[in-house]
Amino acid sequence: MARPPPRPASAPPRAASDELVVNAYSTGWLKRGFPWVYPTEVLRGGPPTPGELVRLRGEGGTSLGRAVADRGWIAARRFRRDDGPLDAAFFAERVGLAAARRTEREPDTDAWRLVNAESDDLPGVRVDVWGADLVVTLDSPSLRGVGQLVADAARAQLGAPGTTWLAERRDPRDTERTAAATRTLHGDPAPRDVVVTELGLRYEVRPALGKDAGLFTDMRTNRAWMAPHWKGSRVLNLFAHTGAFSVSARAHGAAEVVSVDLSEGYLARARRNFDLNGLDAGELIAEDCFRTLDRFRRQGRRFDRIVVDPPGFSHSEAGTWQGEKDWARLAAACLRVLDPGGWLIAASNLGSQSPKAFGGALQEGAERAGMELRLCHEGTPGVDHPAALHFPEARYSKFWVMEATPCLAASPG
Ligand SMILES: C[S@@+](CC[C@H](N)C(=O)[O-])C[C@H]1O[C@@H](n2cnc3c(N)ncnc32)[C@H](O)[C@@H]1O
Repeated sequence: MARPPPRPASAPPRAASDELVVNAYSTGWLKRGFPWVYPTEVLRGGPPTPGELVRLRGEGGTSLGRAVADRGWIAARRFRRDDGPLDAAFFAERVGLAAARRTEREPDTDAWRLVNAESDDLPGVRVDVWGADLVVTLDSPSLRGVGQLVADAARAQLGAPGTTWLAERRDPRDTERTAAATRTLHGDPAPRDVVVTELGLRYEVRPALGKDAGLFTDMRTNRAWMAPHWKGSRVLNLFAHTGAFSVSARAHGAAEVVSVDLSEGYLARARRNFDLNGLDAGELIAEDCFRTLDRFRRQGRRFDRIVVDPPGFSHSEAGTWQGEKDWARLAAACLRVLDPGGWLIAASNLGSQSPKAFGGALQEGAERAGMELRLCHEGTPGVDHPAALHFPEARYSKFWVMEATPCLAASPG
């Protein structure tokens, strides 16, 4: 096919006031479905006010759809590929499409995600369902107008649930340091705890806390997969948070469960989750995981299953944890208290860490501990957390179940 002649450089199309003209690189990605435009990709137009609706155009004038402008590390989020309006009917349709993707959810579960942002063509907007309550979480204050319309659409889609909250989360790359706020859009505004059910087990969540509600529903399928594999085992749950893996392990027959987290507050919530299910909480240890692992190694304490699901970064008086560079150290410390044949169940949500880099760090940790690891299962979030392939950033989740065995001794000679 003939390449079109280049446009004369002397006559660039002028951007209308509500237009952003983007470079060829961004044009290519937008055409493939990637919904973000970075500030360095904007050639002309603006700068619009955050929250303003803009038309996106390629250098040659090609229409690339309608977006919501932002300021900071993202210049615009594209919502539709044509020039149509971003009105109530549009958001009702998008939320309806998201709901249709989620008709096959697990039974006995009323905690799930209705809208998963970019992967449901609603960039920067998540909708979580906590029983009768809904939480709409926005990645940026520029999306407040969109958030209200999505909330209305979600309420209409699911019937008449309880309270609808609008929460905001701050991306660390966000240069705009406004305070994250949560407010009520509909229903009772009093922040309160809600008991939800996941796979038949009960957990208490605080919807008003937005993304910190207290249960990570993107781990539900992994808890489901693990359910038949806890029976009779000694389980160590590191970075245990509110204890969802611990509760599930105990409910499915674990002989012993030890949960470790820096935060006394999260462990108090873990205890409450055990109570809600009529289960013995086992040992709850408020401490830096590295300290606990070191003590258990010295005491000769051993486990059959170790769950390790750390955040990207944390700091305690015992030191700093950085997911980017500390996984080998963590894996080695875990493997020194795991019995041969036991399972290391490692999860990382760091989008910047590729599966290859994750595997490399785990392998290095295994070598340090004189062990070998074999991947038995790789988990992904469920149908309510789809990851669009045209948006690589959505594929952050790694959940690896690995059997650990001692390194075979080199044969003599
Ligand atoms: C991503 S959450 C873990 C989620 C959990 N696995 C679940 O499924 O609910 C991370 C947790 O790690 C805890 N944490 C962070 N740094 C820690 C450290 N050095 N030692 C122990 N806990 C830590 C935080 O308090 C938080 O509860």
